[in-house]
Amino acid sequence: MSVLEVRDVDSGYGDMQVLHGMSLDLHEEEIVCMVGPNGAGKSTVLKTVFGLLEPWSGTIRLDGEDITGMAPEDLVRRGMAYVPQVDNVFPPLTVEENLRMGGVAREDPGPVIEELYERFPLLDEKRTAKAGSLSGGQQQLLALARALVVEPEVLLIDEPSAGLAPTIVDDVFEDVRKVNELGTAILMIEQNARAGLRISDRGYVLDQGSVEFEGNADTLLEDPKVAELYLGG
Ligand SMILES: Nc1ncnc2c1ncn2[C@@H]1O[C@H](COP(=O)(O)OP(=O)(O)OP(=O)(O)O)[C@@H](O)[C@H]1O
Ligand SMILES: [Mg+2]
Repeated sequence: MSVLEVRDVDSGYGDMQVLHGMSLDLHEEEIVCMVGPNGAGKSTVLKTVFGLLEPWSGTIRLDGEDITGMAPEDLVRRGMAYVPQVDNVFPPLTVEENLRMGGVAREDPGPVIEELYERFPLLDEKRTAKAGSLSGGQQQLLALARALVVEPEVLLIDEPSAGLAPTIVDDVFEDVRKVNELGTAILMIEQNARAGLRISDRGYVLDQGSVEFEGNADTLLEDPKVAELYLGG
């Protein structure tokens, strides 16, 4: 069953249309990876799903319920969380404060934050460190953990490996996998397309605001056309 369903969505900025009849599904317990060239509209898909951009037309459903045009705070209450591509932590705040900010929608985020410290000991060690003092990989982990404070059913992640050293990329993907294994369905964008698809169940290739290819991640990885056009050969 689809936890998230995007159907024929048009969207954009001002009068510039970016998404043209965009459709995708995220099923329970899946990791789905969106890949495609710069400017294809990948981030725009997540912003539209998360209610940061109003879709011009089309429908978005969460657990079968129409959420088209709903505000981010209402979506968080319904079990959705979003990790943006950039500026996804508050650098002057400590790790602990960042996690508490992630939990403003909860009555008492304390116990969940403690659980997250257990799952990610690195953050536990850095509770009182300013987020701005963490390495790129650690900040990405903090951003991920911050989104988890609301215990989302659906997690949207925009380029978790962006700007990270290749040695750390695998660690971040491993963290994404851990989150998925505990039952959160994940829709992720990855510039690092091969690596992203390798940890995913299914994938979508976006180009110029619509889906060019979709399928099982393995099938996409093995498709010579996809490889040539979108995975760097
Ligand atoms: N806030 C904005 N205002 C106006 N145009 C925007 C805005 N954000 C993105 N765009 C434009 O929308 C198009 C799609 O951008 P988007 O960020 O969705 O692409 P992307 O696939 O995420 O690219 P990248 O791989 O570089 O992150 C681009 O032409 C971009 O310049
Ligand atoms: Mg983007």
